[in-house]
Amino acid sequence: MSFKMHSGDLIPLIGFGTYMVDGFKQTKEVLDNALSVGYRLFDTAKMYGNETEIGRALKELLPKHKLTRRDIFITTKLLPSDHGKIAYAAIEESLSKLDCEYLDLYLIHWPGSAAKLRAESWRQMVKAKNDGLVRNIGVSNYTVRHLEEILNSPEGVLPAVNQIEWHPYYHPYEVLEFCKKHGILVQAYMPLGSGSKTLLNDPHVAKIAERIGKTRAQVILKWSVQQGVGVIPKAATKSHMEDNIKLDFTLSDEDMNTLCNLKKRTKYDWDPESLP
Ligand SMILES: NC(=O)c1ccc[n+]([C@@H]2O[C@H](COP(=O)([O-])OP(=O)(O)OC[C@H]3O[C@@H](n4cnc5c(N)ncnc54)[C@H](OP(=O)(O)O)[C@@H]3O)[C@@H](O)[C@H]2O)c1
Repeated sequence: MSFKMHSGDLIPLIGFGTYMVDGFKQTKEVLDNALSVGYRLFDTAKMYGNETEIGRALKELLPKHKLTRRDIFITTKLLPSDHGKIAYAAIEESLSKLDCEYLDLYLIHWPGSAAKLRAESWRQMVKAKNDGLVRNIGVSNYTVRHLEEILNSPEGVLPAVNQIEWHPYYHPYEVLEFCKKHGILVQAYMPLGSGSKTLLNDPHVAKIAERIGKTRAQVILKWSVQQGVGVIPKAATKSHMEDNIKLDFTLSDEDMNTLCNLKKRTKYDWDPESLP
């Protein structure tokens, strides 16, 4: 399952989140398991402080799994304090830490506090794309208002991806509709509610999972993917990794509607609506 981005590159709809994967030993072990289970997309960020460990671990692990750099997809993100002209240098820094010749996807992590600064970051990212440092560029935590700024910018380059918080308790449909209209993939972060047991233990989720013989996590993730939303669950536990990638089933319209209508509006991360 993948999505074709504006560049023509394919991005897997199920990827692997690496927030809180720390230290070389744990990183190597987690990525080794993730690669053997079948994950090919790895999502990191300068903010997670693990780019160096991921770069080193992948260098060692790819030959073991008979894979090359071209078989995997690496996403990393601009630290909010690196907005502006220094964004280009930040991309070079991430490339060096990840020990890569190119990044598959580079995202603005947060819109930041100034429209002028994020517009400059986008200019620098377009330049990095033209220079071959990154194959695709996108954004994260962008509301429709922030996306419209890019649409109206002189560069004329649309984001490939908008990575936002998205799960059955929080799903801003206005963002999904806008992104679909412009061929931008919405990629769900915290797709399981960040491990909070509230969503995983929701009685509606539990009931559906039990009836169709899937795990609660599978039901939650499939609800996103079935709407054309990518997911990047993080899992340190191998059985979780295995569950999260096996989404080859269909939820009925009734079950989809039940999950769409949980009416919780619980957000686990902070709200980009509050940004200028
Ligand atoms: N762009 C942004 O601003 C932003 C913000 C937050 C996150 N992200 C990205 O999104 C990724 C995912 O978000 P997240 O890590 O915060 O939350 P998440 O993926 O929603 O949840 C991760 C938690 O769920 C548990 N889990 C995973 N699979 C499970 C399963 N099958 N059954 C039960 N529990 C399961 C994990 O436990 P174990 O680890 O013990 O297996 C972990 O505690 C991050 O790693 C990061 O790459 C981006």
